Amino acid sequence: MGSSVEQPHPNEPIIRALMMPKDTNHHGTVFGGTILSLVDQAGGIVAARRARADVVTLQMDAVVFHNPVFPGDLVSVYAEVINVGRTSIKTRVQVLAHRRLAGEQVHVTSAQLVFVAIDPEGRPMPVPPDGTVPGEGNRSTGG
Ligand SMILES: CC(C)(COP(=O)(O)OP(=O)(O)OC[C@H]1O[C@@H](n2cnc3c(N)ncnc32)[C@H](O)[C@@H]1OP(=O)(O)O)[C@@H](O)C(=O)NCCC(=O)NCCS
Repeated sequence: MGSSVEQPHPNEPIIRALMMPKDTNHHGTVFGGTILSLVDQAGGIVAARRARADVVTLQMDAVVFHNPVFPGDLVSVYAEVINVGRTSIKTRVQVLAHRRLAGEQVHVTSAQLVFVAIDPEGRPMPVPPDGTVPGEGNRSTGG
């Protein structure tokens, strides 16, 4: 099928989720939409952290599912900011599934998503120049 990832990912996952039977379709694999929801949430978390504001999803690139996900798999979703525009933030998201009984980890999908920082009225607002808050080092402020 698809590629498998042997090495642990260098970063901490933004989301970890244990897949349950309720997440599956009638042939026993997890819905693609369930994984896409996690992708959207993980990208949104890092984008909002960087924007220090709410964000909305503007765009997601084409997604290919390289391996199925099964109930009992522990899904890890990694996300990072790769570009910042005036009001937009581009993120890269990677999904790995840990098949706990087999002890292997497989690459499920990767995607790039663009988010836009919004003000309380839902209008685009500028992203501040950096992601740190004075006096708080690199601690995250969003989520
Ligand atoms: C995202 C949204 C606020 C942008 O509003 P807008 O009036 O198009 O805003 P702007 O024209 O000022 O563009 C905002 C940013 O998005 C970028 N952008 C807008 N349309 C784009 C497109 N089709 N492709 C790529 N970038 C785009 C602009 O370049 C700009 O980025 P920058 O400031 O970093 O240069 C608006 O389209 C919206 O609310 N969309 C729905 C979002 C949503 O609900 N998502 C969940 C889906 S259910």
